[in-house]
Amino acid sequence: MLELTDLHAFYGKSHVLHGVSLRVGPGEVVSLLGRNGVGRSTTVKAVMGQVSATGSVRFKGQEVLGLKAHEIARRGVGYVPEDRAIFQDLTVRENLLLGEKRRRAPARWTTERIWELFPQLGCRAETPAGVLSGGEQQMLTLARTLMGDPELVLVDEPTEGLAPRVVAQVGAFLTEIAKSGVAILLVEQKLAIALQISERLYVMGHGRVVFEGTPSDLRANDAIRSEWLSV
Ligand SMILES: Nc1ncnc2c1ncn2[C@@H]1O[C@H](COP(=O)(O)OP(=O)(O)OP(=O)(O)O)[C@@H](O)[C@H]1O
Ligand SMILES: [Mg+2]
Repeated sequence: MLELTDLHAFYGKSHVLHGVSLRVGPGEVVSLLGRNGVGRSTTVKAVMGQVSATGSVRFKGQEVLGLKAHEIARRGVGYVPEDRAIFQDLTVRENLLLGEKRRRAPARWTTERIWELFPQLGCRAETPAGVLSGGEQQMLTLARTLMGDPELVLVDEPTEGLAPRVVAQVGAFLTEIAKSGVAILLVEQKLAIALQISERLYVMGHGRVVFEGTPSDLRANDAIRSEWLSV
């Protein structure tokens, strides 16, 4: 589905990614872990054409490196960036409907289906989105991305700043999304949630992938956890 090969990325003269290779299969949940500043967000931004990069980014077998962000989105890649960009003054429903851009018939995601999956949003459909809690706003940005009918979503730290109970809710929501057949590349810093919902994980350090494996591989690897993940 998504395959990055030898990806290098640059902010001006600053060389931030040094040959990242990773893949996400159809319907798979894969996490990208690592400490602050290692290049996780840059990796997903490079996939979305938002950073200057070299190497290869293939989506469904086709090279997408060099395409504009909206072209990549139109091919079926959804992106939920770090900042929760919801429209505070629009209602929850209006925010969701803004996500409808690449509709197939019949639409896989409808507002009704979102309300079913996440009743907390449904009962606030007509409420201005600005009054939602941080966790609800995060669900809303995820839900809005689904309305664009992606086959893969890149989700950058959806649990940042959320209370543990809410982190678990976001995790459950991501699992539901994956069950519906949408692949997920989850950028995380919280190991527990990543281990819980991922089929495979990558750990990054200094702009490189330093570990790739299953949750049980990572649980068993104390050296990687202490060198690249613990604070
Ligand atoms: N717009 C930018 N201009 C210059 N350097 C940047 C820019 N954005 C990020 N960087 C640098 O690139 C490196 C990787 O940043 P990135 O945002 O990918 O990190 P990250 O792994 O997502 O961590 P976190 O989200 O915790 O900051 C960091 O050293 C960061 O300072
Ligand atoms: Mg980041």
